[in-house]
Amino acid sequence: MRYIGNKENVIPRMYEILIHKGIAGRSLFDFFSGTTSVSKFYKRLGYTVSSSDFMYFSYCLQKAYIENNSTPTFERLLPLPIVSPLKSCASPLDRVIAYLNELEPEEGFIYNNYTPEGTYHLSQPRMYFSNENGKKIDTIRQQIERWKNDNLLLGNEYYILLASLIETVSFYANVAGVYAAFQKKWDPRAIKPFILRPIEIISNRQENRAYHADSMKILNQINTDILYLDPPYNERQYAPNYHIL
Ligand SMILES: C[S@@+](CC[C@H](N)C(=O)[O-])C[C@H]1O[C@@H](n2cnc3c(N)ncnc32)[C@H](O)[C@@H]1O
Repeated sequence: MRYIGNKENVIPRMYEILIHKGIAGRSLFDFFSGTTSVSKFYKRLGYTVSSSDFMYFSYCLQKAYIENNSTPTFERLLPLPIVSPLKSCASPLDRVIAYLNELEPEEGFIYNNYTPEGTYHLSQPRMYFSNENGKKIDTIRQQIERWKNDNLLLGNEYYILLASLIETVSFYANVAGVYAAFQKKWDPRAIKPFILRPIEIISNRQENRAYHADSMKILNQINTDILYLDPPYNERQYAPNYHIL
C-alpha cells in the first residue's frame, strides 16, 4: 500500500540490525502500526504481535492481518442461495470476493463525494475515482455492512472483507500517493475496471492483538519484549492524507 512511512521495503534490514544488536524477544508491540507491514513481518516470524494506530483503516488491516489467525469459512454467508452458485472458486474467501465483484454498481458515499459525476456541481469536479469505480467501491462497502448488520459475518470475517477493499482501493485511486488531493488527469491505474482482491491470511497461532487507540493510552496494558516506534515525521497527523481509506 502507498502510505507515508510504509516500512515494507526496509523491514528485513531492520531485522538484521535487531539480530546484530542482540535484541531478543518473542513479542513485539507495533506502536504506530499504519499499514501493518512491520506487524505482519514479525507475525510471520512467530512473534506474538500487538499493534495499534489512530486510523480506523489501519485497525481494519490489523484485525484482518494481525489478530486473525484463521482462514474465513463464511459459514453463515455461503449457504445462502444468492452466494452459493459460485462454487468453482478455490476458497470461501475467493467465492465471497467473486460474488462482490459481480454486484451491480450502485451510487453511494464515494460516488457522491469523490467522482466527477457525483461532484459535477463543484467548480472543479473531483477525480479521486472514475464514476464506475466509485460506484463499485460503494456497492461492495454497502454489501459488507449489510451482511454485518444481518449477522451473517462471524469472527474477523467483516474485517477481512474490509481489509480486502481498503487494499484494493489503493490500486485504483487517482492520487499521487496521498488523498489530500486528486490528480487533474486520469492516471491509467484509475480507469481500469475495479476488481476486488482478497488479502493474504497470515496465521502464527499466537494471541496477537489489534487496537484502535492512542497508543500512549494503552501502553500500560501491553506486555511486550520489543517496542517498535515509528511515529509521524512531523506534527501533522495522517487523517487529512488518508481520510478516504
Ligand atoms: C510513520 S507511520 C507508521 C508506518 C508503519 N510503520 C508502516 O510500516 O506502515 C505513523 C503512524 O502513526 C499513527 N499515529 C500517530 N500518532 C499516534 C498515536 N498517538 N497513537 C496511535 N497511532 C498514532 C498514524 O496514524 C500513522 O499511521
